[in-house]
Amino acid sequence: MAGVRAVALGCGHYLPARVVENAEFEKTLDTNDEWIRTRSGIERRHFAADDEKTSDLAIAASRMALEDAGLSGADIDAIVLATATPDQTFPSTATRLQHAIGMTGGFAFDIQAVCAGFLYALANANALIVSGQAKRVLVVGAETFSRILNWEDRATAVLFGDGAGALILEAQPGTDTASDRGVLSSCLASDGQYNDLLYVDGGVSSTQSTGVLRMQGREVFKHAVSKLASAGEDVLQKAGLTVADIDWVIPHQANLRIIKATAQKLAIPMEKVVVTVQDHGNTSAASIPLALSVAHRSGRIKQGDLLLMEAIGGGLAWGAATLRW
Ligand code: UT7
Repeated sequence: MAGVRAVALGCGHYLPARVVENAEFEKTLDTNDEWIRTRSGIERRHFAADDEKTSDLAIAASRMALEDAGLSGADIDAIVLATATPDQTFPSTATRLQHAIGMTGGFAFDIQAVCAGFLYALANANALIVSGQAKRVLVVGAETFSRILNWEDRATAVLFGDGAGALILEAQPGTDTASDRGVLSSCLASDGQYNDLLYVDGGVSSTQSTGVLRMQGREVFKHAVSKLASAGEDVLQKAGLTVADIDWVIPHQANLRIIKATAQKLAIPMEKVVVTVQDHGNTSAASIPLALSVAHRSGRIKQGDLLLMEAIGGGLAWGAATLRW
């Protein structure tokens, strides 16, 4: 349908109460605060309580987003939830969220693209809206990566955190120009030849167990900056925009060095980059909507601002999107 845009109505986030400072890992691992800070930029992260599930995080973030948008669950007709750490193998975590927010109609489903999950969810939500299949979509990234960490592996245990972020999109008429509000462009990519760089060594049909996260961090790092920068350039070009048009970059929060190097490659000053990695660690699919909501609540993001989002993770899978707030 020509002229329809998926416009942001509100966003929200949730972080579990338990905050774990870098120093806590010094008690159990051969690591230290200095190494974690300088190599990753991470200072602390939140871990879910034992009885807190990914759906609980998603529900809290979604309630904040609904309040921000002045809507109730009944006003939503689709949920696209990105997670690599669902409550159960099935049903989808999205349907748990659907029930919890009092949404009895429409449809809800999960998407799994690990750290790029939110951008995959956003692109799918945008496609549902532009094709007329949904009018108001709740897009969520929610993770409990603390459940899949190997606590004996210092190279991964210190990097991840739990959290959730949510964004509500609504079909609104646009003008087919880059001055429209809403999602202006997106780009998704994956390359399965790199499966072994970042994976969980368990699963339903392979081990019938959950498994733990394994990562060749240095190898992932090598791919990250060039793939993120080229995805960023791609979405700017698709939208007919340039780097100078960007008000805010909202990157996946895995590593401050990756965030800085990507910004440098795109020639975007760090003053325009939202950075939350120091407080959240890597929350996988939750990291972009978490950073977006934190920046929104701090008053930094104004209506009409142009946002560039980019992420990469297991798959490898990566992507980017532009959205005018
Ligand atoms: O979100 C999904 C995508 N994931 C990413 O984007 C992650 C990408 N990778 C990274 O962020 C970085 O590669 C890491 C933060 C994971 C690691 O930083 P690095 O600078 O690439 O370090 P490294 O893996 O090359 O390790 C350097 C050294 C090694 O020791 P040797 O071999 O040089 O003696 C590691 O054993 O640091 C050691 N090391 C640690 N030392 C203290 C690894 N982890 C730790 C630790 N504390 N926690």
